[in-house]
Amino acid sequence: MKRRSEGESDPIVGTAVPRLDAEAKVRGEARYADDLVFSGMVHVKTIRSERPHARVVRLDLSGVGSTPGVVGIATVADIPGENIVPIIYRDMPLLAGGVVRYVGEPLALVAAQTRDAAEEAAARAQVAYEDLPAVFDPRDALAPGAPPIARPDAADEGNAFNHMVIRKGNLAHGFAHADVIVEGEYEVGYQEHAYLEPQGVIAVPEDGGMTVYGTLQCPFYVQNAVANVLGLPLARVRIVQTATGGGFGGKEDVPSHLAALAAVVAWKLRRPAKLVLDRSEDIATTSKRHPGIIRYRTGAKRDGTLTAVEVEFYYNAGAYQTLSSAVLWRGLVHAPGPYRIPNVKVDAYSVATNTVPCGAFRGFGSPQVIFAHESQMDELARRLRMDPLELRARNALRVGDETATGQVLTESVGLAACIAKAREISRWEEVQAEVAAFNRRERFKRRGIGASTVMYGVGMGAKAPLLDKAGAYLKLEADGSVTLAVGTTEMGQGAETVLAQIAADGLGIPVGMVRVAPVDTSRVPDSGPTVASRTTTVQGMAVLDAARRLRLRIEDAVRAILGCPEFTVEGHRFCHPQDPARSSSLAEVARWMWTHNWDMGATGWAEAKPVDWDPATGRGNAYFVYAYACHIALVEVDLLTGETRVTGFWAVHDSGRIVNPATARGQVIGGIAQGIGYALMEDLPSRDGRILAPSFTSYHIPTARDVPTGIAVAFVEAPYSGGPFGAKGLGEVPLMASHAAVANAVSSATGSRLRAYPAIPERVLDLVANGA
Ligand code: MOS
Repeated sequence: MKRRSEGESDPIVGTAVPRLDAEAKVRGEARYADDLVFSGMVHVKTIRSERPHARVVRLDLSGVGSTPGVVGIATVADIPGENIVPIIYRDMPLLAGGVVRYVGEPLALVAAQTRDAAEEAAARAQVAYEDLPAVFDPRDALAPGAPPIARPDAADEGNAFNHMVIRKGNLAHGFAHADVIVEGEYEVGYQEHAYLEPQGVIAVPEDGGMTVYGTLQCPFYVQNAVANVLGLPLARVRIVQTATGGGFGGKEDVPSHLAALAAVVAWKLRRPAKLVLDRSEDIATTSKRHPGIIRYRTGAKRDGTLTAVEVEFYYNAGAYQTLSSAVLWRGLVHAPGPYRIPNVKVDAYSVATNTVPCGAFRGFGSPQVIFAHESQMDELARRLRMDPLELRARNALRVGDETATGQVLTESVGLAACIAKAREISRWEEVQAEVAAFNRRERFKRRGIGASTVMYGVGMGAKAPLLDKAGAYLKLEADGSVTLAVGTTEMGQGAETVLAQIAADGLGIPVGMVRVAPVDTSRVPDSGPTVASRTTTVQGMAVLDAARRLRLRIEDAVRAILGCPEFTVEGHRFCHPQDPARSSSLAEVARWMWTHNWDMGATGWAEAKPVDWDPATGRGNAYFVYAYACHIALVEVDLLTGETRVTGFWAVHDSGRIVNPATARGQVIGGIAQGIGYALMEDLPSRDGRILAPSFTSYHIPTARDVPTGIAVAFVEAPYSGGPFGAKGLGEVPLMASHAAVANAVSSATGSRLRAYPAIPERVLDLVANGA
């Protein structure tokens, strides 16, 4: 195939194409779930449990039903299919039957003509409970005699939903040969996604089935859940994604539950049913990042060579499994960090408690252990009197090395290059000297600089290889423009633009000719979930596959039109090689194909490269490829108030070929902001299973003032042969790396090791007191 011959326009992959969705969003024209209105639509409010663990003795909804404006009520009895929201396990009911297991668990639904009426009605529910013993901390849940919370069919043992391991080498031997051993316990609490747009769905009865519109990441998960509770064939359930104002993992599994709730109401009343959460209901009752208790012991030789690492960690999963087993598995695989370590032992537990189920959040179980492993690296560096970047560089995985799970890395390992580049662009040595001079000069302020390095397994990995696939449909219109349908979603990360770029380059046309259709489960095969930083890589390969197929047909048409076996491409025109006067534009070719009744559609398919895993030993090729990053943060701590400001940031990533440097940079800066929040300010206290203050008044997320200006972002592009144009994943990595660099900078500034997030002023003052 003749591609990129002399004079053809430049490739689009690798350029900063402006986001295709930007204008509609900036103009306020993009339609989010709550903007949609259907004739006859009712508003749904969920009646939720007020107890963390109780038997429901009586559910009296008479006051609910008699509230003015109420159209109907739905309870367990109204579920036509199975009362289960299937995620990985089948343990979570759509509506609690006899027993509630967390505060906020759905019990019943009320539909009214207005949202206010629905809220007023829901408040009139009378529920009589018989309290059961409850536990909120994973340590208590695993203690002998703890009340059973996990359903036995969904748990490895007792309240341990899952216990997973890695066993490599000989730990005792590894520690015996260490010159220095450090150990520590680390603790992190919830992190709330704080997407700008809260959760929302609208279920619309249609053609004997159900269509659901909503803000969501994983349309095929939602389709499965709705079909299950309605008892319908999948083909009768259609999911259409609305413009989505952020997800970060929070719209990975939760929309399945909400869509199924709305669908039960819509099915019963034969009316469209809208269910939109307000902010406090969203924070209090939907998934967040797992709190964790994490213990590490790390050994190294005098020259810094790591000899052994031993890890034990516990994630508080909440009352139902949801995604916890997958989150735990990612935490397990990522616990040893991006280092060569011959002897490794990891024990990971996800534990049932009577708290809101935790789920996916950017990094998916890895940020918690990264806080710990990067703290250990800095602690080792201090004990060895070694430069922390140098210690990381000496142990960094390279091509040919074996990971902690025994996977040999055969290509695309840019970690050492990331560390070198971060050292260079941050002026590491000079900044350290400046920090030391500042700290000698100032009485009430201290600066600190911290680094982190991470690896990230792109895609679903060996825990869920069946989900790592994607379909695409490309349609050449009669005027030469192109419609692209995909099964993965735009949620603000820039996927739509990147996929259009890949399609445009695959077809050899300008990106402006490509329009990405709204994601609709009826257009493309199940493409798996939009998670795990897999969209550019896996969905991108499917788009490229469709583009190649369509391109071949276009080329056949060009040969027929020009009447020659070969042709050249000049600009965007197809030319006869001997007679430059004879040429066709794509529009002309498309018109010719249309008038000759040619097939102008092409489907594409991609599946990830094989992975494998032995759960007994934790050995295997956990992911098909890894992305890498090195972050450096500079902070300034006020010794009197305990306030910390991040004053400088340098981020270097290897995500393979960068398809769009502008959206990639945006992802990195967003992840840094989220990491600053995680490390320094995001605090969501709860008591007895109740989130105490579910609002942004008390849950502080970073504002523009908390993010340093002049963040330096750089990319090391180690190409991956299995990705489109060499691309790997990026989405989650910036968050994973950033918080740990900030934490290490805080420890360095205060002279005392931060062992719990967030480093709010009270905690920092304790560090200052200890470090003095
Ligand atoms: Mo995610 S945290 O893989 O949506």
